[in-house]
Amino acid sequence: MQTANPIGVFDSGYGGLTVLKEIIHKLPQYDYVYLGDNARAPYGNRSFETVYRYTLECVKWFFDQGSHLVVLACNTASAKALRTIQQNDLPKIDKDKRVLGVIRPTTELIGNYSESKHIGILATSGTVSSSSYVLEIEKFYPGLRVYQQACPMWVPLVENNEYDNHGTDFFVKKYIQQLLGQDEAIDTILLACTHYPLLLEKIKEYSPADMKILAQGEIVAESLAHYLKRHPEVESKCSKDGKREFYTTDSTEDFDNHARIFFGEPVRSKHLNLS
Ligand code: DGL
Repeated sequence: MQTANPIGVFDSGYGGLTVLKEIIHKLPQYDYVYLGDNARAPYGNRSFETVYRYTLECVKWFFDQGSHLVVLACNTASAKALRTIQQNDLPKIDKDKRVLGVIRPTTELIGNYSESKHIGILATSGTVSSSSYVLEIEKFYPGLRVYQQACPMWVPLVENNEYDNHGTDFFVKKYIQQLLGQDEAIDTILLACTHYPLLLEKIKEYSPADMKILAQGEIVAESLAHYLKRHPEVESKCSKDGKREFYTTDSTEDFDNHARIFFGEPVRSKHLNLS
């Protein structure tokens, strides 16, 4: 690793690249290191303990690379591991290091998008069963009606490059109908998994034309920019040479092929071996 103190961006696989892309667009001056734990993805159906253990292992790896700040660009890891890492692990590892997630920044703003005040959340089974979105939204927008739908087939479809076939149509239509069947007043759908923007065209196809469909990339990038302004003690520790590095725990060839689609430009990743 050439860069001294890159901002770490983590996901179970490729999804976090949709967030990194927006972060770099907003904050191009910083150095970034991305890690996709593709060998162990998807995280969405795994237990709390497993997601926590995998995520903590990856966070420690970022710290070894010199990162002071790590963004979990993964809702499942944010829902199941972030709080324990922030409260129990960081004080022991290094109290000056920071780990941020994607749920809080999203829930802070979500209520502004809906007119009917009925919103739908599409997420992995892990994120849905954690109820993180329901609980966090309740804090910021107590009157908002929140409906959740787990989409367990979507991450495997995306990780396997199956964006456009009959199977994808079937599962996109199925979960959208199940969500909208819960309440016809839903006017806003949040894609609460960083993989889902890759299915956006299909999701739009099976949603009413006037449905607002939100992805998290821009929201998280905006929130990170505010965070860095409010925390000069963290900002000053992030190096600013505009460097980017990419690591995957699985095949670099697969990663680079996918990353071109998720990230929008060519990527040359390196392999990382985790236990
Ligand atoms: N991108 C991850 C998220 O935002 C996908 C989780 C998974 O691996 O299932 O939840």
